Amino acid sequence: MDLKITPFFFFFFFALLISVTKALDPCASQSDGSQDLSIIPTYSKCSPFSPPKADSWVTTVLNMASKDPARVNYLSTLVAQKTTSAPIASGQQVLNIANYVVRLKLGTPGQLMFMVLDTSNDIAWAPCSGCTGCSATTFLTNSSTTYRSLDCSVPECAQARGLSCPATGSTGANGCFFNQSYGGDSSFSATLVQDALILGNDVLPKFSFGCINSISGGSVPSQGLLGLGRGSMSLLSQSGSLYSGVFSYCLPSFKSYYFSGSLKLGPAGQPKSIRTTPLLRNPRRPSLYYVNLTGITVGRVPVPIAPELLAFNPNTGAGTIIDSGTVITRFVQPVYTALRDEFRKQVKGPFSSLGAFDTCFAATNEAVAPTITFQFTGLKLTLPLENSLIHSSSGSVACLAMAAAPNNVNSVLNVIANLQQQNLRILFDVANSVVGIARENCN
Ligand SMILES: *[C@@H]1O[C@H](CO)[C@@H](O)[C@H](O)[C@H]1NC(C)=O
Ligand SMILES: *[C@@H]1O[C@H](CO)[C@@H](O)[C@H](O)[C@H]1NC(C)=O
Ligand SMILES: *[C@@H]1O[C@H](CO)[C@@H](O)[C@H](O)[C@H]1NC(C)=O
Repeated sequence: MDLKITPFFFFFFFALLISVTKALDPCASQSDGSQDLSIIPTYSKCSPFSPPKADSWVTTVLNMASKDPARVNYLSTLVAQKTTSAPIASGQQVLNIANYVVRLKLGTPGQLMFMVLDTSNDIAWAPCSGCTGCSATTFLTNSSTTYRSLDCSVPECAQARGLSCPATGSTGANGCFFNQSYGGDSSFSATLVQDALILGNDVLPKFSFGCINSISGGSVPSQGLLGLGRGSMSLLSQSGSLYSGVFSYCLPSFKSYYFSGSLKLGPAGQPKSIRTTPLLRNPRRPSLYYVNLTGITVGRVPVPIAPELLAFNPNTGAGTIIDSGTVITRFVQPVYTALRDEFRKQVKGPFSSLGAFDTCFAATNEAVAPTITFQFTGLKLTLPLENSLIHSSSGSVACLAMAAAPNNVNSVLNVIANLQQQNLRILFDVANSVVGIARENCN
């Protein structure tokens, strides 16, 4: 009796093979629901980006954190500006952040891109085909049947540029062009365009974003950036009622290798009972997510901090933001000093420095390291130890994983950053003006 291998059998076997392979491949997308997208540390195993060298993860974090001062500097100058008409599309804005990426598709048919997640940015950017100075993976505008460039006269253009259109007549004057120089010798040029954005099973057919045409003297996230701020050009605003102004994310540990963090868009599937704190709105900088940090406790000791160092002030931009593009939490100098001094009192020295960290100690003393609690209006967040300490690659040294605002920044802004957000679900409900925080293991 011969066994007939039917096409059906082949199909069945093949399907089985695929599902086994998927189960064994932790980098296969776990995203099955339409609003639940994977978030991945940029330099982790499942990412298409490899770290500059075969560094230990702590070195990678330190290298990433070395870009924080520029980021904090940028955020600080942003909040210090008195005008509301500043361009939301600044060249500097797209630099120096490459911490977490999310997988999405652009165009029709969809082209896969790994874009950096940025809660303090209002606009999405993608390197487009023909870009000079961009990396190899670009969005091929010619391969998309739904791509179109936007005219300078559309309202989005004025919002994004903060400038009116040039006189017609010169070459290409009808397009919405940006050309910005920054940091002395770097420049950046882009065009505002529109195409389909595909997030899981959701399609935003006419999504406006900046198409990067050239970059010199600097670098941009190599496959683009997705702005999750709440300004007019952000994903939240452009998706309108689709996500009802609600999203949440859980950032996996930088040590995490696989696609395990998640970005959840829209109210469905969000945690039902989550403690919240009011989301504050700075009318001048609507894209930034301000919260009311009212105090910090180290162990059981409330750190003595003058309330005005934490107070939200839309006139000066002072206050505390939650940011997905800064690696380590930065406090204004007097706040950090008070926090660090209390922490040092409770841990045995001597203390040394490592990169941005000034309070490193023998890991053998870690057992006495106090927990750090951020007190927000209506919400207390006690950081898991892995969110307040970082270890040297040998593991023998532990450091308090926070720092003061960079020296040259006369900052009024406190920034709650990535390392302190690991394995927490952070829910932004813009419609109801609250931020929720809950522990979640998303490693
Ligand atoms: C896209 O197509 C246009 C028109 O056919 C052509 O001029 C242009 O060079 C193409 N661009 C790229 C980057 O291939
Ligand atoms: C942008 O500005 C740079 C420097 O001023 C200039 O060399 C370049 O030609 C400009 N590009 C566009 C598209 O205007
Ligand atoms: C922040 O909390 C403090 C202390 O409870 C309160 O006095 C202040 O009004 C709050 N600020 C805002 C903007 O809600």
